Amino acid sequence: MSEYNPSPSRYDGMTYRRCGRSGVLLPALSLGFWHNFGEVTPEEQSRAIVRAAFDAGITHFDLANNYGPQPGAAESRLGKFLHDDFAAHRDELFIATKAAYDMWAGPYGSWASRKHLMASLDQSLERLQLDYVDLFYCHRYDPATPLDETLQALVDIVHSGKALYVGLSRWPLEAARFGFDYLRRHDVPCLIYQGRMNLFDQAPKAEGTLAAAHESGAGFISFSPLAQGLLTDRYLNGIPADSRIAHDPRFLKADMLTPETLSRIHALNDLAAQRGEALATMALSWILHHSEVTSVIIGASSPEQLRRNLACLDSPDFTEEEMEAIQNILNHS
Ligand SMILES: NC(=O)c1ccc[n+]([C@@H]2O[C@H](COP(=O)([O-])OP(=O)(O)OC[C@H]3O[C@@H](n4cnc5c(N)ncnc54)[C@H](OP(=O)(O)O)[C@@H]3O)[C@@H](O)[C@H]2O)c1
Repeated sequence: MSEYNPSPSRYDGMTYRRCGRSGVLLPALSLGFWHNFGEVTPEEQSRAIVRAAFDAGITHFDLANNYGPQPGAAESRLGKFLHDDFAAHRDELFIATKAAYDMWAGPYGSWASRKHLMASLDQSLERLQLDYVDLFYCHRYDPATPLDETLQALVDIVHSGKALYVGLSRWPLEAARFGFDYLRRHDVPCLIYQGRMNLFDQAPKAEGTLAAAHESGAGFISFSPLAQGLLTDRYLNGIPADSRIAHDPRFLKADMLTPETLSRIHALNDLAAQRGEALATMALSWILHHSEVTSVIIGASSPEQLRRNLACLDSPDFTEEEMEAIQNILNHS
């Protein structure tokens, strides 16, 4: 029997945004399981983060088959929490998973063939202890598999009832456009496109995937909205021992903290202070300021961090001068 009683006021403070032209509302902040849910993180720490998220109205959890370490561990961990804490709340949750990155040995353990996507989703459902996920993504573009094969597999997955919606992540513009069109023609419109968009990486704006998703009726969700922690106060004065760079430098490495990047972080931090908020708050609200964006997927290594990030929901709008000052910092510092 769970000792967890979700907060009765959990839906009072969150903002929900319509996902493209679909019927789905997603919270402006979603929770990602890439880090902090693997075997190296104490289980009770992960559990506390998930409970804090749900208590704050975060109904959307973003997973992938390979999130760990070890690959699969984040799904298994969430599966346990769903069983222990959320059995009575399944219909309040919108759970996403993905396939296409390296998962198991041999020729079918990766990429975007029908074989990989279908087998991987079955494995994910078993780890998550679910009959279906709300959203299933093709996690990356596969240049060697015909797009029709990948996309038809997504259509068939929805028809099978194992996912309610499908999405595309990290597909280049032309392939994404083809995908949006294919899925719509087959009556399984792409619910959402997932790409990295943050103050340091504005590629979806520059390259056009943000606009293309919007035009096709899909939502857009940004991953790594804080550039894995760079766009916070974490690294203003060195590398703290409990930070991602120090304890899990698989993807965020100390040499990414160049003097230029540090100088931009400091200047952005000063600008955020002038707005009366933390840099993380400003970084998240800058993304949400784009009307085509449905949600941002935050990572959090503690419940406190997650709660602090909720401040972006009440962040003041940006003036034209502030938007200009931000771009000047990014272009010139
Ligand atoms: N589709 C894809 O290919 C793809 C790729 C990457 C990620 N994603 C998704 O996006 C999610 C989020 O990615 P991410 O973890 O890189 O997101 P992020 O929000 O950019 O970074 C999260 C990290 O920033 C630090 N942080 C967060 N809030 C903070 C605060 N208020 N003050 C100081 N530090 C703070 C924490 O690091 P510390 O550990 O230092 O505390 C935290 O773990 C993933 O979990 C995954 O679901 C998808």
